[in-house]
Amino acid sequence: MKPSTTPISAQDSTVAPAFDQVGLHYDRLTGMSPGYAGQLLSSARLLTGALSRRPGPGEEPLQVADLGCGSGASTRALLTALTESGCRFRIEGVDGSAGMLEAARAKDWPESVTFSRTLAEELPDEGPRYDAILAAYLLRNVPDRDAFLRHAWQSLRPGGVLVVHDYGVAGRPLDAAAWTALSWGVIIPSAAIVTRRRPSLFTYLWRSVLEFDSDEQLQDRLTRAGFEDVGLRPVPGWQRGMVRAVWGRRP
Ligand SMILES: C[S@@+](CC[C@H](N)C(=O)[O-])C[C@H]1O[C@@H](n2cnc3c(N)ncnc32)[C@H](O)[C@@H]1O
Repeated sequence: MKPSTTPISAQDSTVAPAFDQVGLHYDRLTGMSPGYAGQLLSSARLLTGALSRRPGPGEEPLQVADLGCGSGASTRALLTALTESGCRFRIEGVDGSAGMLEAARAKDWPESVTFSRTLAEELPDEGPRYDAILAAYLLRNVPDRDAFLRHAWQSLRPGGVLVVHDYGVAGRPLDAAAWTALSWGVIIPSAAIVTRRRPSLFTYLWRSVLEFDSDEQLQDRLTRAGFEDVGLRPVPGWQRGMVRAVWGRRP
């Protein structure tokens, strides 16, 4: 089959299947980004620090979702942070890409971690059930972001917290220029070499980050979806100014 020459876009439909072909290379690629795992851990710790429920003996363990879990890097960060918290917990990794889930499932996980294939915007409507949701590098990829956030809000228990961890440079020309230099100088050529494919997913990554919400727009989006105590902090490390964590709580 001839490869498609249509640029990838999250405008009208999901981009999850585009991740299938990079699933087995994904860890190698993110491993080339110093601090990728550490940055996810800092956002996972932000999430555990914001938990409003600490289950006592006999109470149900914390239910935590990792939406857009990919090959499991963000799930691993959650596992570490939740273990540090001393609480009993279950983590549900959810992703729309079979290839990324295959890479995640190939790793060693305790019984408290499970994975399922679902589009984040099509999570079953089972009412408030999560104490916390992490969405790392997901929201930018979702076609209807407002609908997704409302859906995430409805899936959280009252007091539950959402942490969105993603790139964002809009409104900061110097950071946008640094992102373009990093993308075309390092990320896109490395992806072409490692995956031996046209790096269309990574040119999409470059474009989608430039077009994604500014810090203010992203916080407004969470507020519009019904979240309270909305806040934002740049993710520490060398990508400071390019990656941020945004959080909000279901009242
Ligand atoms: C950049 S990866 C991030 C993976 C992981 N969270 C991490 O931090 O390494 C984005 C993931 O989101 C998934 N994804 C994209 N759109 C999705 C959607 N609408 N629903 C579920 N997963 C989606 C992709 O399949 C991919 O695995």
